[in-house]
Amino acid sequence: MKIFVMGATGSTGRYLVIQLLNRGIEVKAVVRSGEKLKNILALENTDGLEIIEGEVINMRGNELQIMLSDCDAAASCLGHNLTFKGMFANPRYLVRDSVRHVCETTLKQIREDYGPFKFVLMNTSANRNPDEQEGRNIGEILLFGLIRLLLPPHRDNEQAAEYLRCEVGRDNPRIEWAAIRPDNLIDKGFVTGYEIHPSPVRSPLFNPGKTSRINVAAFMARLLEDERAWSKWKGRMPVIYNEEA
Ligand SMILES: NC(=O)c1ccc[n+]([C@@H]2O[C@H](COP(=O)([O-])OP(=O)(O)OC[C@H]3O[C@@H](n4cnc5c(N)ncnc54)[C@H](OP(=O)(O)O)[C@@H]3O)[C@@H](O)[C@H]2O)c1
Repeated sequence: MKIFVMGATGSTGRYLVIQLLNRGIEVKAVVRSGEKLKNILALENTDGLEIIEGEVINMRGNELQIMLSDCDAAASCLGHNLTFKGMFANPRYLVRDSVRHVCETTLKQIREDYGPFKFVLMNTSANRNPDEQEGRNIGEILLFGLIRLLLPPHRDNEQAAEYLRCEVGRDNPRIEWAAIRPDNLIDKGFVTGYEIHPSPVRSPLFNPGKTSRINVAAFMARLLEDERAWSKWKGRMPVIYNEEA
């Protein structure tokens, strides 16, 4: 199995690459700087890792098509750098447009020998899944409205999941997807217990839980590897929290 990974140099993406390689799964990582990824993974066993320098969002269709032709699935841990330029300059829809480019390229491919292509998106608990009838109180509606207006990366995360939910759809025979929603991200050096829920069980604004990036990566890798977990969560937006001690 080979997974096409976007955002591999990020704080979560690096753990996803390691988790996949440790499971014996090959990884094709598209990054802006190959040197940066090599330095990040300097102490890891990187057998099975192929690094490609580039930005998916700017790739020509036929270039991306060749890259995806030997991959069974894709995963995105892309996110806007938390600098003024990263948050407010182009590409404002980095995540949505990268996800769309991969999915549309995949839909154009003839993949007769393969089952459906899987796509796992790292999203956020700050995003609602209308398919699960998730409600919000008036405080949350007002604050999220403000966040959507003022912070383009939040809009991007919302629209990336919306693209998968509404345009790829839940019954697409060619692409299956899951959007993983962590709560407040924290860093830990090792995988701990985590809980998965179909919808948030606490307010992401007024009572947020914690999710380790490494646990997000572990769950993404599990979904890509384990058919039972995949059939449970495909077409859905599972929320992940660290288990509380
Ligand atoms: N903060 C939270 O509590 C929280 C909670 C839930 C979800 N999230 C979401 O989780 C996602 C990942 O979070 P993270 O902390 O792991 O992210 P991160 O460490 O900031 O990593 C972002 C990744 O995206 C890449 N990237 C950024 N701008 C790019 C561009 N213009 N073109 C190509 N690649 C680009 C970065 O590449 P470079 O290394 O080259 O910059 C890096 O690989 C984000 O979408 C975030 O919104 C955050």
